[in-house]
Amino acid sequence: MRQKIVAGNWKMNKTLEEAQSLTSEIMGMVADEVKGAVKVVLCVPFPYLVTIKNQLGSSATIFVGAQNASQHDSGAYTGEVSVSMIKSIDVPFIIIGHSERRQYFGEDSKLLALKVDKVLAAGLTPIFCCGEPLEIRENGTHESLVKQQVEESLFHLSPEELKKTVIAYEPVWAIGTGKTASSQQAEDMHAVIRKHLASKYGNEVAQSISILYGGSVKSDNAKELFSQPNVDGGLVGGASLKSREFVEIVKSI
Ligand code: 13P
Repeated sequence: MRQKIVAGNWKMNKTLEEAQSLTSEIMGMVADEVKGAVKVVLCVPFPYLVTIKNQLGSSATIFVGAQNASQHDSGAYTGEVSVSMIKSIDVPFIIIGHSERRQYFGEDSKLLALKVDKVLAAGLTPIFCCGEPLEIRENGTHESLVKQQVEESLFHLSPEELKKTVIAYEPVWAIGTGKTASSQQAEDMHAVIRKHLASKYGNEVAQSISILYGGSVKSDNAKELFSQPNVDGGLVGGASLKSREFVEIVKSI
């Protein structure tokens, strides 16, 4: 059985006070029935990691995550946050290679491979994002682009390292647009990714990797998306900022 994961990516939103309220509402609403069946990850802005981590306490269901980390270990990199800093505050998950990092901050596959290495070397879990822009979907080369993204940033890993990695497929055209991929489009791409992993690492490793879908996941489409055989959960942006909506998505798993 693959681990089911529903992660909220809060992006650059909320004040500290709002973040604490949202967290306490989510904690209050994540019902007993989902406990054990799914890991919930709240990927909050850097300044709130310690506070939200402490607020969650020793929850075995809800975890905190970071949204990015530097490829450097330490030193004169003003404004950056290292993986060892994130590890030192006991934050277990880090999103790597979100399309907004690729698009606005010029992060490419080679850099993301370095970041993934740092996260794994620290014993933390990378949530590695891939996904095609609209023009690539429209010209029909989306499968080869996503395979290339996965290959360039992950295929240097050992099977043991890959097994500790979570992948999120997020088609750029579905992010923040309200236009979600159909469950068939999501399933097709997840199957392509898994098959590609199997071609390099074998079926047993490929079958063990959790692949999340992201891009306009909402409470009214989550069930259908999560019911696909190769979709192991979601990476949720806008809808993770509203407690009831997010918890409904969690319950859809
Ligand atoms: P939305 O759910 O707002 O489309 O964002 C998806 C996303 O980018 C999650 O990382």
